Amino acid sequence: MREVKQKDELAPEVRPEILATTPVWQHRHILDLDDFAPAEIELVLETTDAMKEVLSRPIKKVPVLRGKTVITLFYEPSTRTRSSFELAAKNLSADVISLSAQASSTVKGESLVDTLATLEALGADIVVMRHSYSGAPYIATRHMRASMVNAGDGWHAHPTQALLDLYTIREHKGGFKGLKAVIIGDIKHSRVARSNIWGLTAMGAEVSVCCPFTLLPAGLDVVQHHFPKVHIEPEIESALCGADVVMTLRLQLERQQSGLLPSIREYVKLYQLTEARLAKAKADAIVLHPGPVNEDIEISLAVAQGPQSVINEQITNGVAVRMALLYLLAGGSR
Ligand code: CP
Repeated sequence: MREVKQKDELAPEVRPEILATTPVWQHRHILDLDDFAPAEIELVLETTDAMKEVLSRPIKKVPVLRGKTVITLFYEPSTRTRSSFELAAKNLSADVISLSAQASSTVKGESLVDTLATLEALGADIVVMRHSYSGAPYIATRHMRASMVNAGDGWHAHPTQALLDLYTIREHKGGFKGLKAVIIGDIKHSRVARSNIWGLTAMGAEVSVCCPFTLLPAGLDVVQHHFPKVHIEPEIESALCGADVVMTLRLQLERQQSGLLPSIREYVKLYQLTEARLAKAKADAIVLHPGPVNEDIEISLAVAQGPQSVINEQITNGVAVRMALLYLLAGGSR
């Protein structure tokens, strides 16, 4: 006879002491990490631990989102974010609808607001949206009752990427206080860098950003005023000196026609993360990259596939982190 599981065996287990010491989850939407308190980030990380336990079971499915509808709406290409959100929602037993702008009525002139109204009329509870315009998810929240998850908006923010990066760092380093994290690459155009700066500094890490001055966002001096733990280190060897965490960013080749770099060759010569440069960091430093990687441009293949690389772990952790976020948005901690 088939074993019938008790209800609580089917649910992810978040340690009661964490729920007791954390303010109730306040977020109806996940737009960026600038409005996340450290205790809320810790709640996401603890909930992710519970989701990893679910993913280690023979049947990686729990019924906590049964009856809920999650819609992914992508106006830009994505491999990791989209597939991991869809897997996450399915693992939580949600009904999942996947829409890409190219295959929707957007091509016939439907506006973002119309699309969202349509999704809401279809019964969406959570919409996961990637959009090329910074701020698009914020506008969307004014036109819908469903929860909005920002899966990347223009140059602005990619909060779920930063949370999976934080989770991966915590797995290797045990915490964040006193860690030296270096972010190397196209900071100006990077939503990943921005969200990571919020998350890492909130959790107590020191952050250095390393890139040519042309790839620094205007106003980073203003950011530094608010983030005394963010340092600008234009020279890669000194930036890497003593680092615990090294994050390289995709050089957005599609943006390099704008004259911000003399040439890709010059960038590779001065900023590629090579084995020789990585040797300046601590011996147990870990290397992250949000993907997709331009092999042998921002990072050498040897480093990307080397023993310090946690790039594949980041992708794997993305599913558990996104399960945790969908669970919390659906009221899991209440
Ligand atoms: N890191 C990231 O956002 O990757 P995708 O563009 O493949 O989703």
